[in-house]
Amino acid sequence: MASRIRICPSILSADLGKLADAVAAVEEGGADWLHIDVMDGRFVPNLTFGANMVATLKKLTKLPLDVHLMVVEPENYIEPMAKAGAAVFTFHPEATVHVQRQLAHIREQGMQAGLALNPGTPLTAAEEVVKDLDLLLIMTVNPGFGGQSYLPGSNEKIQRSRALLTAHRAQCFLEVDGGITNKTIAAAHQAGADTFVAGNAVFASADPAREVQELRRRCMVTA
Ligand code: DX5
Ligand code: ZN
Repeated sequence: MASRIRICPSILSADLGKLADAVAAVEEGGADWLHIDVMDGRFVPNLTFGANMVATLKKLTKLPLDVHLMVVEPENYIEPMAKAGAAVFTFHPEATVHVQRQLAHIREQGMQAGLALNPGTPLTAAEEVVKDLDLLLIMTVNPGFGGQSYLPGSNEKIQRSRALLTAHRAQCFLEVDGGITNKTIAAAHQAGADTFVAGNAVFASADPAREVQELRRRCMVTA
């Protein structure tokens, strides 16, 4: 089981006019992955980046690119994202008819396969495909925007997710996304998450590098 902690700054909250500086700052702070939120204005009410942004970031950093697709029919993006250099490809089960087929295709394309569950989506959506997963993402806000508050009830769902992965002996990252701050991260870690997306907490801070370190420290204190 991967027990090491991963801190994954989400570039959704970065100043895109200074993208290279933002990436350099979180690298300096020891970020593990970069999280890229792809939104199509249909699955969620917001529009963001495509494969071009992933390719741009690939030139700027050696950090693994953790791509979170909040789009309908994510199957249309698997090959473009693999070509652009994505390391992890995560989608939502409501967005496609054939979840297991897409998970297998993601692995065939050389990426790690992730499934993301909205706050209202039951964990059973992941249960049938747990062997096909490299990452399970528990959304701790309703997706679409950065800077929202961590939803109460998330920690209990993280605990149940950890129990599911343990029961299946799954070698799988357990990621949380939404409202992760230096106030919420420790409880999410204690509940069983090992991979933490943070947008606003990192990039709205005066010192993003330090904030990455601080998020990691908060997990260590409760380890
Ligand atoms: C939410 C996105 C998140 C977002 C998190 O729809 O999936 O990745 O960037 O932002 P914060 O950490 O500000 O809640
Ligand atoms: Zn995300």
